[in-house]
Amino acid sequence: MSDARAVVSARGLVKRYKGMCALDGVDLEIHAGEIVVIVGPSGSGKSTLIRCLNGLETIDAGSIRIDGREIPSQAREEWRLARQRIGMVFQDYSLFPHFTVLRNITLAPIRAGRLSPEEADKTARRLLERVGLGGYANAYPAELSGGQQQRVAIVRALAMAPEVMLFDEPTSALDPEMIREVLDVMRQLSSAGMTMAIVTHEMGFAREVADRIVFIDRGRIVETGAPEQFLRSPRSPRLQEFLAKIL
Ligand SMILES: Nc1ncnc2c1ncn2[C@@H]1O[C@H](COP(=O)(O)OP(=O)(O)OP(=O)(O)O)[C@@H](O)[C@H]1O
Ligand SMILES: [Mg+2]
Repeated sequence: MSDARAVVSARGLVKRYKGMCALDGVDLEIHAGEIVVIVGPSGSGKSTLIRCLNGLETIDAGSIRIDGREIPSQAREEWRLARQRIGMVFQDYSLFPHFTVLRNITLAPIRAGRLSPEEADKTARRLLERVGLGGYANAYPAELSGGQQQRVAIVRALAMAPEVMLFDEPTSALDPEMIREVLDVMRQLSSAGMTMAIVTHEMGFAREVADRIVFIDRGRIVETGAPEQFLRSPRSPRLQEFLAKIL
């Protein structure tokens, strides 16, 4: 498939931290409606990759295109605008603790001039309802469970009507019961056709929703494939070893 149809595309991505190569020539395209799951050992570069795709890190070589248009690393204002179209969900929810759930969700769309305060309010309440949190608009993050906070974080990203959602281990800080609540919301998004890149070790979920699973090791994409093939008959010894550890 060509670059033109990719919502997000990375070519030859290199990211170094003090000379250490966190990403060492990564090519990745995420097409409209596609769900790409990214797996790999700790320190392999998964978070770095997600952060680069979102312009939260500068890159040392290669290029990133959003909707076919290259956005240079230094173009901070362009990236700020691009991020309005890219939803991001972190492992630690990153909600503003001093704002209510409602304010957490409405802040960005109002600030960006996307929605009027009334529209933002309505959108937030509708989305909260959809993730089973209709009664929590006026609560503060600390009053919610981890799973509830993460669902609020997802709603906050959705309130901007993003073209693509990036998730970095959204359930790895959660207890099993809450993991399911959050994965259910992500399943809903997948059924609704949302384009997503998801770093996760929830392989059952990956098998179910991913179009492609990508294995990254030491800053390189080592193997990529459709879930069945990827999980059942991994080719590279490093992926075999990794799967043996986590499955
Ligand atoms: N801000 C930073 N400064 C220096 N080194 C960093 C920084 N962020 C990441 N690194 C290094 O880059 C490499 C890749 O890190 P990254 O966080 O992307 O890995 P990861 O695959 O997300 O790991 P994990 O599964 O533990 O979250 C690691 O060696 C890490 O120590
Ligand atoms: Mg990480």
